[in-house]
Amino acid sequence: MIRSVIQGVGSYLPEKILTNAELAQKVDTSDEWIVDRSGIRERHVAAEGEKTSDLAIAAIRKALASAGRDGKDIDLFIVATTTPDHTFPATAARVQAALGRPGVPSFDVQAVCSGFIYGLAVADNFIKAGQAKSAVVVGAEVMTRLLDWTDRGTCVLFGDGAGAVVLSAEDGKGATSDRGILSTHLHSDGRHYDMLFADGGPSSTQTSGHIRMKGKEVFRHAVVNLADAVQEALEANKISINDVDWLVPHQANKRILDGTAQKLGLDPAKVIITVDRHANTSAASIPLALTAGVEDGRIKPGQMVLMEAMGGGFTWGSALVRM
Ligand code: ACO
Repeated sequence: MIRSVIQGVGSYLPEKILTNAELAQKVDTSDEWIVDRSGIRERHVAAEGEKTSDLAIAAIRKALASAGRDGKDIDLFIVATTTPDHTFPATAARVQAALGRPGVPSFDVQAVCSGFIYGLAVADNFIKAGQAKSAVVVGAEVMTRLLDWTDRGTCVLFGDGAGAVVLSAEDGKGATSDRGILSTHLHSDGRHYDMLFADGGPSSTQTSGHIRMKGKEVFRHAVVNLADAVQEALEANKISINDVDWLVPHQANKRILDGTAQKLGLDPAKVIITVDRHANTSAASIPLALTAGVEDGRIKPGQMVLMEAMGGGFTWGSALVRM
């Protein structure tokens, strides 16, 4: 059976770091409140003129280098983003023009914070169907451009960044000992559209809008949906939580991560956490955390990694991968 193996990972964070203390100078908040409620200490903020495609391209270059690949040999480019450069064309068009071979498919995927998992599932299915032998999936966001800096309930929670993986088709036995993506599961429930959304768009206000969120409701759904997503992946692969070497969750809030780990009976030391340094970077947060774990040597080849995310829509899902 064909498996989509992660050959390389890479990430990019804008140079500018905004600490909670600096934020507290322009917003009615405090370092103590933000750390206590979210675990966030600082976030990166894109420079003026720095666009989502710039972040994506920088992350993909590193992922290609770590895979030992040239972008011209890649068959498919998928950009997961909620903050495209323009309403159209897709940000993926810029990425493909900068790094890819003319003519190969490229498109954006919009599933907000679950975007990377959605992108990974789409790429895995292209590879399994034989339509691509290799793919790049990047999550890239400048979430700070969607913030209402007068809404302290949201503006303290988000940051900018990008993370990418290079996937390559390899033969596997169809067992969980195979390297590569072992399963993906995707979900959505649009009844919760208004709990987390941007209050603008081309067909409604002709603006990009700002992030609006019912924080408490989102929190409650997140812990339940994320734990369910993990259980679903474990059951589908007939493994237990103890077989998972690393949980790489979407980095929204340290309390959501702790609540999910506790609900699953998972050792907190097996959870890769970057939310303290990156804040919530939406679709970029999982590949940013994955890259951090690989680059600091915690995540090793052959280990089993479970990724899970939940975001606006609501959307949620998981990807189980043997590195
Ligand atoms: N600084 C100081 N005080 C604040 C701030 C702030 N930044 N924001 C809100 N407050 C105040 C409120 O005004 C309120 O004051 P009051 O009691 O006088 O009215 C008090 O703090 C409590 O506010 P709540 O909104 O009830 O705080 P809560 O404990 O629910 O925490 C938070 C808010 C952090 C947003 C929480 O609900 C949460 O984490 N929700 C999950 C949202 C999330 O992570 N979304 C990310 C996208 S979804 C995803 O990726 C899964």
